[in-house]
Amino acid sequence: MASASLISDTEPWKDLKEHVNEINKTHLRDLLNDVERSQSMMVENDGIILDYSRQRARLDTIDKLFKLAEAAQLRQKIDRMYNGEHINSTENRSVLHIALRAPRDKIFYSDGKNVVPDVWNVLDKIKDFSERVRNGSWVGATGKALKDVVAIGIGGSFLGPLFVHTALQTDPEAAECAKGRQLQFLANVDPVDVARNIKGLNPETTLVVVVSKTFTTAETMLNARTMREWISSALGPQAVAKHMVAVSTNLVLVEKFGIDPANAFAFWDWVGGRYSVCSAVGVLPLSLQYGFPTVEKFLNGASNIDTHFHSTPFEKNLPVLLGLLSVWNATFLGYPARAILPYSQSLEKFAPHIQQVSMESNGKGVSIDGIPLPFETGEIDFGEPGTNGQHSFYQLIHQILFPDCLLRFCLGDLLLPSLTFPAHQISRLISDQIEEFAVYFQIASYMGSTIPLPVLWWFSYKVSEILVVATFGRVIPCDFIGAIRSQQPVYLKGEVVSNHDELMSNFFAQPDALAYGKTPEQLLLENVAAHLIPHKTFSGNRPSLSLLLPSLNAYNIGQLLAIYEHRIAVEGFIWGINSFDQWGVELGKVLASQVRKQLHVSRTKGEPVQGFNVSTTTLLTKYLEAEPGIPFDTTVLPKV
Ligand code: F6P
Repeated sequence: MASASLISDTEPWKDLKEHVNEINKTHLRDLLNDVERSQSMMVENDGIILDYSRQRARLDTIDKLFKLAEAAQLRQKIDRMYNGEHINSTENRSVLHIALRAPRDKIFYSDGKNVVPDVWNVLDKIKDFSERVRNGSWVGATGKALKDVVAIGIGGSFLGPLFVHTALQTDPEAAECAKGRQLQFLANVDPVDVARNIKGLNPETTLVVVVSKTFTTAETMLNARTMREWISSALGPQAVAKHMVAVSTNLVLVEKFGIDPANAFAFWDWVGGRYSVCSAVGVLPLSLQYGFPTVEKFLNGASNIDTHFHSTPFEKNLPVLLGLLSVWNATFLGYPARAILPYSQSLEKFAPHIQQVSMESNGKGVSIDGIPLPFETGEIDFGEPGTNGQHSFYQLIHQILFPDCLLRFCLGDLLLPSLTFPAHQISRLISDQIEEFAVYFQIASYMGSTIPLPVLWWFSYKVSEILVVATFGRVIPCDFIGAIRSQQPVYLKGEVVSNHDELMSNFFAQPDALAYGKTPEQLLLENVAAHLIPHKTFSGNRPSLSLLLPSLNAYNIGQLLAIYEHRIAVEGFIWGINSFDQWGVELGKVLASQVRKQLHVSRTKGEPVQGFNVSTTTLLTKYLEAEPGIPFDTTVLPKV
């Protein structure tokens, strides 16, 4: 059992807290000058390189993080996960998504039973079924081959499969296997999503896969009933047996829905929804699209990282290092967000997937024992493929100021286009928490009431540097993810570089731009006009890490997925929270069900809105008055 004390009570935690002051005196410009440090912060596994030298950390920071890992019993917690113990204590479940990609001869126990044979029974069934659909021996109700698949599901029953599908779509080997086939995802209960999905689809050639762990999720079940109606209204109710299959842990509800249990693909309660892409949730739709052998490569990639995570010393362990650095950034340095920036369009759905894995797992306010946490946990994850993000939100990542007014004062007001500056104004900048600042202030004071401009520049540069390194807040640590080889190489004769090299130039440049920044002194040397210097200054010292993969084939995509899954688990293990439950999503569902009941009685019986606060009552009443709704005695499907 986990102990009821908090990790923040331990000595390594307190030591790291104090260590923050040390790190606040450093700048990445200087840290990166230490060649030995930078070399030690590069780790390689199976061709994947992690470079974390642009983290705001020294080598002793990493040692202290390892001590924290020891205090948090990280090794033991990983072992408990791999041993199938019920580490998801609030739901009394094992956490064994690692078993989903284990080789046949591997053993993973849950409740005393080796689950790997069950996993392979389902995988074999998927292989067989997907081959029959793909080779045309399983056909639709009118005898036509089923070449289009619509996977209905939401959250973990959608985001992971969508990410992998998007990543495989442009991999030449996978794309070859998918020729003539189409895979789409219906997640949102918005009828517009139904309309988009069925646009251009023929029910005769469409197979619908209903994916829901619980088979009770309101959005998924309404979408499933809608698609069932779409099929049966076109082909008759008997067609459902040929055109609808299911993936769920709840085979009773699958049968009740009208899907033959023989066409249901099971998974288990020891697989969390957001960790389920390697179960039938992802493997079935992806195998229908790309064939099982391709998907097996993806599973093998994830399995490679599972072994690495379990058996590699922490110093070389990618998920452990990433997880510890995330804790360092989020909790100790106080950076609330994390940008996931893949330099590959094929990974465009990676950040949305990781958003769920990370934020649903680690967005917790209490410890695993229910104690309110006195520190920050999960990050706000967001991201876009580079270089698109560069032309969108990178401005903020590069230049947003931390102690807003102070720094603006230093770099703006101080750099007046006059040659002198009244020293007394500098006193307004004093912060007695920042020792060094006082020194610079004293220097300024000794110089009398005016300061020559060059000294002022030097001064403001120093001040900005101190303030930048000493403050918390709106710094966004970035994950740069790139691949050595493009899935789709392009080179135009006469161009300086290939298209992939062009993309990757940005991958290599951005981390240094963030780390080094650009000083007013450098700008002066470039003859930048004084009034533009504040605008063109980059404080730098903004942390990032780089993950360089050999390529983005099915195997590498599996590796990338597992690295992030385990990284997020490591963070949760250190914080001492339960990363595998998601009680925070329940309240909204309950309230939505109250609203749903109200809409029903108001629409069908004209009953007034009641039982809500004045705000919701007013909005609901306006909503109902403005749109009488669709008559309840007829079925209406999208007309696109
Ligand atoms: O959003 C809450 C959640 O329970 C997720 O954890 C899960 O991935 C999603 O809903 C879908 O649930 P199900 O697969 O049971 O339909």
